[in-house]
Amino acid sequence: MNAAKKVIIDCDPGIDDALALMLALASPELEILGITVVCGNVPARMGAENALKILKQMGRMDIPVYIGEESPLVRTYVDAMDTHGEDGLGESHYPEVTKMRPRTGAVQFLARMLEQAAKAPEEAKISIIALGPMTNLARLMRQYPESLAGLGELVSMGGSYKSHGNCSPVAEYNYWCDPHAAGEVYAGFAALPVLRGKRIHMIGLDVTREIVLTPNLLEYMCCLNPERGDFIRRITRFYFDFHWKQEGIIGCVINDPLAVAYFIDRTMCSGFAAHTEVETEGICLGQTVVDDHDFWKREKNSHILTKTDALRFMKFFFTRVIGECEEQVLEELMGRVLR
Ligand code: BDR
Ligand code: CA
Repeated sequence: MNAAKKVIIDCDPGIDDALALMLALASPELEILGITVVCGNVPARMGAENALKILKQMGRMDIPVYIGEESPLVRTYVDAMDTHGEDGLGESHYPEVTKMRPRTGAVQFLARMLEQAAKAPEEAKISIIALGPMTNLARLMRQYPESLAGLGELVSMGGSYKSHGNCSPVAEYNYWCDPHAAGEVYAGFAALPVLRGKRIHMIGLDVTREIVLTPNLLEYMCCLNPERGDFIRRITRFYFDFHWKQEGIIGCVINDPLAVAYFIDRTMCSGFAAHTEVETEGICLGQTVVDDHDFWKREKNSHILTKTDALRFMKFFFTRVIGECEEQVLEELMGRVLR
């Protein structure tokens, strides 16, 4: 078996971040060096407390959690508690974890780890799966650009290529929350010599919208694994209600776990390479502008994922987080998304 890939998960838990962390923690292909938290769905401190709750649930209190940036680079911070609940975990109100506490200094932690990996062969470098706004990463790029020599790959849940936004007609939340940070990170991948040849893998709404957790799937989870199923039920209840009110679907779109699945298995999504920029002003604030026709002849700084197989993803998620399941049952239960 190949050695586990070293990874840091930068996130803003968040209900779907929580599911993504559960998936990552249940995946032997990953060696999770730490979890860094950024302000996004909830303030960074609350997100870090939530990360600890997930670690406790998964019996993985060996992984450190670091609090990162508490406000976007330029914009006033706008949380997404309307979507994720006042505690960020769907108002499940699980008790605070007191055995272990979050540490401060997420950006410094990222820099330290990446610096240590700077001279390592490509396969031993450290990758980042980014599930929230890119503020921590932009600060890292500003303050410690040389540390990026230790970066393996960057997979980011964010943006949108052809699908409509979820914060405006064109903008997805993570990039809309801190468009300047996202813009700087994409620009850095086009310009910094230390990142030459690397591309951000953009898992945007085009693919994540395909991933819908339905009430039937949730019931199947509870039948197969009552303990995990109940935890997921408690944290997603609020999310279900939000999706019904906001999007008119019975079920909830779980964006972030797809980025983890794709990082582990590249055949989970497919797409194309392109130069991408992020709009930082006006009515298109936060929009990802993907030069799919190469008008600008600029460095291809991104790999834009446009297609996925929802059934394969669901089987991947169930098998790891819940336990053995039947594909045919999953397929039937997935066929019932009401839109
Ligand atoms: C993204 O925004 C957040 O609300 C979710 O956690 C996800 O990372 C989807 O737009
Ligand atoms: Ca997130």
